[in-house]
Amino acid sequence: MNSLGFEATAPSNIALLKYWGKAAAADQWPANDSLSMTLQTSRTVTWAQMQNDTREDVLYWERTRLPSDDPRAKKIQRHLQWLRQNTGFAKPLRIHTYNTFPTGCGIASSASGMAALTVAALAAWTQSDQWDRLKTHGFDRSTLAQFARMGSGSAGRSLFGGYVAWNKNTSPTNQSIAPLPVGQDWSLVDLIVVISHEAKAISSSAGHELAATSPLFAPRVAGIAERRQQMEGAIRERDFAALGLLMEIDALEMHSVMMTMTPPANYLLPATVEFISWLREKRHQQGLRAYFTIDAGPNVHVLCEPSQAALVRYAIQQQFPQFSLIDDAMGHGPTLTAKNLQESHFA
Ligand code: DP6
Repeated sequence: MNSLGFEATAPSNIALLKYWGKAAAADQWPANDSLSMTLQTSRTVTWAQMQNDTREDVLYWERTRLPSDDPRAKKIQRHLQWLRQNTGFAKPLRIHTYNTFPTGCGIASSASGMAALTVAALAAWTQSDQWDRLKTHGFDRSTLAQFARMGSGSAGRSLFGGYVAWNKNTSPTNQSIAPLPVGQDWSLVDLIVVISHEAKAISSSAGHELAATSPLFAPRVAGIAERRQQMEGAIRERDFAALGLLMEIDALEMHSVMMTMTPPANYLLPATVEFISWLREKRHQQGLRAYFTIDAGPNVHVLCEPSQAALVRYAIQQQFPQFSLIDDAMGHGPTLTAKNLQESHFA
């Protein structure tokens, strides 16, 4: 008989202060601190169960078995291998996973995916249906966040809700990930404008490796501590305009680094540039209280306060009816429950 199954759900997160570049790639030690807001509705749901009757992991995307050469299977397998090597658990797992946001919509799923996989796998191996149980086995949130970032750096920030900091600190072994002590009840809305569904030509992981070839990289890293302080101040004061401006500058600075790497990476499309120009114009001319940020792709995250969300959504839909919108907002972090496969989403 197989043991209990466990379902973890983990949200995606949007970086306000971007992680771009690694100081030590093998240890997933970032070149700089980053700050993010955890999202609520864009999530990965992952169900895991220890197997007694198979010798290998069995991986499913929804209810379809993934062949071992599928890129998604390879990424899952690589992280499971790291987890096994670093925790001592060996048992094969059956894993089912899916994203609540449309797959292939250009929204990165590695943050939510690696966070959900980490929690589900450790819950299955330790038979833990609660966070406290995981903790008694030595896996508190911070430890799980450190594990998740080995799968994908940004995934570490998805272990917590609200505003989260990934602190580089002084060495790969003392880097840390923790919620900010301020602003946890200041919810913002994130309207994700899907400008293109195409997968990016250069993955974030490949891009991180090139970051230091840009002449703008060193000045960027040198200015991060001050920007971080300003951003935390804006969050503490709930000064949305200040936070918005800092967030836009940081995103554009990261994209400037990307475009000046050797070889360069341009993640923005003409439509992305048209969109952000329009948003700024709307803000300056008509006082629309919305600011943008952009990750390693062409899609735009428009942030605003909840009281402005209907107005901002309407303005975007009027001007750009061709783009789909994903409605998201600040969220509380991952969830964990014990579940039979029959009770789960994957039945
Ligand atoms: C632009 O976390 O995807 O979204 O650690 O190599 O998996 P790896 O990279 P990843 O990089 C995310 C970069 C970013 C900015 C951010 O989320 O901070």
